[in-house]
Amino acid sequence: MTGSSKGKGGGRGKSGAGKSGAGRSRPGKPVSRKTGAKRSGPGQAAAGASGGASSEGSLSGRGLKVRVKTAKRRSNSSARWLQRQLNDPYVAEAKKRGYRSRAAFKLLQMDEKHGFLAKAHRVVDLGAAPGGWTQVALERAAPDCKVVGIDLLEIEEIPGAILLQGDFLDHYAPDRLKAEMDGPADIVLSDMAAATIGHAKTDHLRIMGLVETALDFAVQILAPGGSFVSKVIQGGAEQTLLNSLKQHFTKVRHVKPPASRSDSAEMYLVATGFRGLKAGD
Ligand SMILES: C[S@@+](CC[C@H](N)C(=O)[O-])C[C@H]1O[C@@H](n2cnc3c(N)ncnc32)[C@H](O)[C@@H]1O
Repeated sequence: MTGSSKGKGGGRGKSGAGKSGAGRSRPGKPVSRKTGAKRSGPGQAAAGASGGASSEGSLSGRGLKVRVKTAKRRSNSSARWLQRQLNDPYVAEAKKRGYRSRAAFKLLQMDEKHGFLAKAHRVVDLGAAPGGWTQVALERAAPDCKVVGIDLLEIEEIPGAILLQGDFLDHYAPDRLKAEMDGPADIVLSDMAAATIGHAKTDHLRIMGLVETALDFAVQILAPGGSFVSKVIQGGAEQTLLNSLKQHFTKVRHVKPPASRSDSAEMYLVATGFRGLKAGD
């Protein structure tokens, strides 16, 4: 695992951001002091506003479509991908608000509905690159919140977050995360997605392996009352995983946030009310 990157000064609330687009401000647009994401202006849907809906707002996707021709050096699938990106209202809105990924809206929408971030003081973000969920966590959690993220990929600095590059499945990764957390976590988030190989059974097993490992880690690090939010794929969790979740948490839900593409098999598990570590866990 390579080193960690902290926001300059190591704390939250410092101005400026990493080199990525998230940190650049446009004149006249207020920029979040925490993450570099732009706050919505008057009359716009507020991303961070509690209860305000507006992560969906005007994101219906209806309107003029951009068509992408298959150029000589562009395959059909990359032309389809580009066309989908260009016509995706969440991609445009993420760019406008300074979020590093459209995935940011998935966490935003789940938190608007289930409200797990507001009182969090320590958050772990597994599979954090390029940083959209980390930005949302920093914006919506308690003002003193510490966010520690990890990804296989390098993540550009986000002020206030500690970002590690490495494989969460490596045996030393949990201890490294625990050391950076320096105390029990209130939330463990996992948006980890293993690269698919197109063999449905293998792909399913790989993602379920990530979820199970993330849950084992969550049980070790969460404070009582804490939450676990994890990507799974449809039909959701398998019975043994669901049983384990119900044993550890008072409430477990399967959620498909509006920003999750309807043609994608992904879903999220939102488990709240961690019962606490028991002997034998
Ligand atoms: C959908 S992306 C996460 C997007 C992120 N939530 C955001 O909002 O920007 C999934 C990430 O999981 C990471 N990932 C997959 N397997 C991993 C592993 N074993 N350890 C760490 N990261 C992993 C991938 O590298 C990828 O960046």
